[in-house]
Amino acid sequence: MTTAPAIAIQKTTHSRLKETDFNNLEFGKYISDHMVMADWAKGEWSEPHILPFGELKMTPAILALHYGQAIFEGMKAFRMVDGNINIFRPQKHHERLIKSLDRMCMPEIPYDLFIQSLHALVELDKEWVPRSEGASLYIRPVVFASESRLGVKVSDFYKFVVMTSPVGPYYNKPFRLKVEGHYTRTAEGGTGFAKCAGNYGGAFYPTQLAKKEGFDQVLWTDHKEHKYIDEVGMMNVMFVMNGKLITPKLNTAILDGITRDSIITIAREEGLTVEEKRISIDDLEDGFKSKTLTEAFGCGTAAVVAPIAMINIRGIDYPFPPVDANSIQQRIKKRLLQIRTGAEPDRYGWNHIVRG
Ligand code: PLP
Ligand code: COI
Repeated sequence: MTTAPAIAIQKTTHSRLKETDFNNLEFGKYISDHMVMADWAKGEWSEPHILPFGELKMTPAILALHYGQAIFEGMKAFRMVDGNINIFRPQKHHERLIKSLDRMCMPEIPYDLFIQSLHALVELDKEWVPRSEGASLYIRPVVFASESRLGVKVSDFYKFVVMTSPVGPYYNKPFRLKVEGHYTRTAEGGTGFAKCAGNYGGAFYPTQLAKKEGFDQVLWTDHKEHKYIDEVGMMNVMFVMNGKLITPKLNTAILDGITRDSIITIAREEGLTVEEKRISIDDLEDGFKSKTLTEAFGCGTAAVVAPIAMINIRGIDYPFPPVDANSIQQRIKKRLLQIRTGAEPDRYGWNHIVRG
């Protein structure tokens, strides 16, 4: 366990903890009392400091709003069985943060600054970490261009802000999917592998269309032929076919999910064959027809493991059987939770412990 680093803290005079309904944690509805902030100017980051969560004073000319230099991360802290708190895989999230920053021409954030900020914030707001099963503290670091100027340019000023939010499960029932055959979330060579804000804004329209047709999310396919699967909604996607766990091989259009990586590691440890490969829509349809495709789920920090109820391929609904406790996805989800909460040993050094 590491001790809290020295970061200047301005505490709130009015905690919102008592106004928070921990029995009804709609994702992202409540934001905890404090946030961390650091500024980039003249080629370096300022010391991070903690202040009450609240408004920022900025002009409407900040470059992030106009030209999209804005990236974020999504992480979670879990209440452990011994009462301490675990920030899950901060190093891996930091590696991805760096990739996102580089892709968007934004300054890198040193790991020390990143982890000290997270650690101090989670420690200060530790009472915000839920105690109920399946709930956790979502951690949202964001970096954006804060220079006030209208010319199209790479910003010379940035803000790094970290806020947290107590959350329950993102999806409360298996979701219905439509294979997207026209729109794309991003293309190879684009920004799909980076967690930048624009990827999400661009995904809203096709997702809204799918929702109007009665689906919950879209299954994104490659931008050239709409033949190969990339990911699903805001998650990576996995299938169980012929008893093997299969998932699309990463490319520059797919976000390299930390949950995806954790699941692959756990599945291999469980003795399952895992294949990362190109998966076509035709492979899925064949799998449904031959009954060799038995499970499908989305995985991500927010969603954890989210069962897929059905997939609509070229107008035909292909349903999955209901998920039970013996399904591969449920078994892996359980193992993941046990590691995160300290109910089983952390063999891979994934846990960063904060005193609870
Ligand atoms: N794909 C997209 C587009 C996402 O937004 C996310 C969520 O972060 C994921 C995949 C899953 O990534 P992770 O498991 O690191 O949260
Ligand atoms: C996550 O799973 O962390 C995400 O980023 C998805 C969404 C809440 C943006």
